[in-house]
Amino acid sequence: MNDKQLVAIEASQLVQDGMVVGLGTGSTANFFIEALAQRQQQGLNISTIASSTISAIKAAACGLTLIDFAQASHVDLYVDGADEISPHLTLLKGRGQDLVMEKLLAHYAKSFVVVADKSKLVSRIGENFVIPIEVMPSAWKMVKAQLLELGATGDIRLNASQDNVAVTASGSYVLDMRFPIQYDEKRLNDLLNAIPGVVEHGIFYGLTQQVIIADQGKLEIKQA
Ligand code: A5P
Repeated sequence: MNDKQLVAIEASQLVQDGMVVGLGTGSTANFFIEALAQRQQQGLNISTIASSTISAIKAAACGLTLIDFAQASHVDLYVDGADEISPHLTLLKGRGQDLVMEKLLAHYAKSFVVVADKSKLVSRIGENFVIPIEVMPSAWKMVKAQLLELGATGDIRLNASQDNVAVTASGSYVLDMRFPIQYDEKRLNDLLNAIPGVVEHGIFYGLTQQVIIADQGKLEIKQA
């Protein structure tokens, strides 16, 4: 069993009968979906909300009951992976196209649990990846100009074949930006939250209750 499977199985043990469970997106979240489906086969009664179409497809293939986010009044537990995890358990997410739904689930879930292997631990957010910033298509140039003025570097994200701009699941464009080191995670979060035209961004600040990490078969649980 690899580390991603290990953390996914550990997180699946947190799920209790009757819960509404948010499903993340990515390879680690996929292992969680499989582990959850196995618990359901053993008699657990739950419903799930997917953070992306690809997770919904995976969940349906595994036999999980899906409900629409718009029909849900609460989420008990959201389990997802991350691209980076800082020492204060701030996350960088959104390498994919589903940032907005991921942030909604992370905010509204009673508990948000992150599952990852050790490669995701960083000393500062932005160490390994650019920071994805979803913007209203009509505002992308204005937002980019403001970010460049503030010292950031980067540009609009292109699609996989590099022949057009990428469009996210919520219809936004994405600016993939790097920021100077003096912008710590709180400052960056506050800054990006305050810029009109920014729909959502990949910094998940103060949202994580627990991180389950595995390093070569050894589990570590970090509580916020
Ligand atoms: C998706 O948008 C990201 O936020 C994912 O949570 C992230 O890319 C984790 O993926 P892996 O589990 O495949 O590393």
